[in-house]
Amino acid sequence: AFNLKGRSYLKIADFSQREMLYLLDLARDLKRAKYARAEQPSLNGKNICLIFEKTSTRTRCAFEVAAYDQGANITYLDPSGSQIGHKESMKDTARVLGRMFDGIEFRGAGQKMVEELSEYSGVPVYNGLTDDWHPTQMLADMLTMIEHADKPRKDIVYAYSGDCRSNMGNSLLMLGALMGCDVRMISPKETQPHDDVRELAMKRAEKSGARVTITDDTSAVEGADFIHTDVWVSMGEAKEVWAERIKLLSPYQVNMDLMKKSGNPNVKFMHCLPAFHNLETKVGQDIHEQFGISEMEVTEEVFESDMNIAFEQAENRMHTIKAILVATLGA
Ligand code: CP
Ligand code: NVA
Repeated sequence: AFNLKGRSYLKIADFSQREMLYLLDLARDLKRAKYARAEQPSLNGKNICLIFEKTSTRTRCAFEVAAYDQGANITYLDPSGSQIGHKESMKDTARVLGRMFDGIEFRGAGQKMVEELSEYSGVPVYNGLTDDWHPTQMLADMLTMIEHADKPRKDIVYAYSGDCRSNMGNSLLMLGALMGCDVRMISPKETQPHDDVRELAMKRAEKSGARVTITDDTSAVEGADFIHTDVWVSMGEAKEVWAERIKLLSPYQVNMDLMKKSGNPNVKFMHCLPAFHNLETKVGQDIHEQFGISEMEVTEEVFESDMNIAFEQAENRMHTIKAILVATLGA
C-alpha cells in the first residue's frame, strides 16, 4: 500500500505514476462516498492554512469545502492579508506557520517560495498554483478525462492548443508524460515549453510509454479525445504582453473548426477556468476595447456547446484536493 502521509504536493514531477493513480483512486472513492452521503471524515481537528498571493475561486473553494467535509478547520490569508514577502521572509513565515498548522496551501508567483515553505515549515505544503506549475489542477484534469474516456487511460489522446509555456502548459505536458497518454502540445515556437520542462517530460515519457508531440501545427489535434486550452496571458504577467500573445495565439484559438479538425465526433473541450469567451467580464471588456476582439482562447460557440466539460472538471478540483488532504494528513 502507499503511504503519502506527511508528503508535500509541489509539482507532479515529484510523484510516481503509481502515486498519482493512488490519489486518483482515492478521489473517486471520496466522490462516490459524498454522492452517497456516506463520507467518513478523517481530518477531524486538523488545521489547514490557505495562503493566496494571487486570486482564486475554484482552488480556494475546493480546499475549503474539502477540508470542511473531512472535519478540518481552515484559515484563509488573502492576497493582502499577511506579512509574507513585504515584512517577513518565506523562511521565517514557514517556521511560524509550521508550529500552528498541520498543512499549508500556497498560491503565488514563485515555485521557490512554495518549496521554501515546504522545507522550513516541516508540514505538508500544497502548491495551489505558481508561475511554473498547477499540480492540484492536474489530478482534476486526469480524473475528468478518465471519467469521460471510454478507453483505458494509456489510450487517451489529448491536445492543448495555446500558451504551452504557462503553468497549465507545463503541467499538462508533464501529466501526459507521467500517465502514459498521447499528448499533443500545440503552440507557436515563441510559447512552446522551455527545454528544462521538455527534458523532464521526455524522461517520464520514456518510462511510461507516453507519446509526446510538441508542434506549431494545429492539425496535431487529429484523433484527440480532449482539447484543452487556457488563458493567453496568466496572472502576474505584464499588461504589455497582451498585444503579442493575441497576435501569436489567435491561430491557436479553440473554435468549432479546431474541434472538427480532431475528426472525433465525441471530442470534448476542457479548460481549468476562468475562461475568456465573451464580454461578460471586466477583463474581457478591456481587451475588447483595446484590441477589438470579443473571444480569446475559446469561442462562445464551443464554450456553450455540449462539448464543454470544464464545469465537471471544476467540480473534480474539490474531490481531488480532498484526496490530497486525506492522503497526506488523514488519520
Ligand atoms: N482553475 C483554477 O485554479 O481556478 P481558480 O484560479 O479560480 O482557483
Ligand atoms: N494560467 C492561468 C491559470 C489560472 C487557473 C494563470 O496562471 O493565470
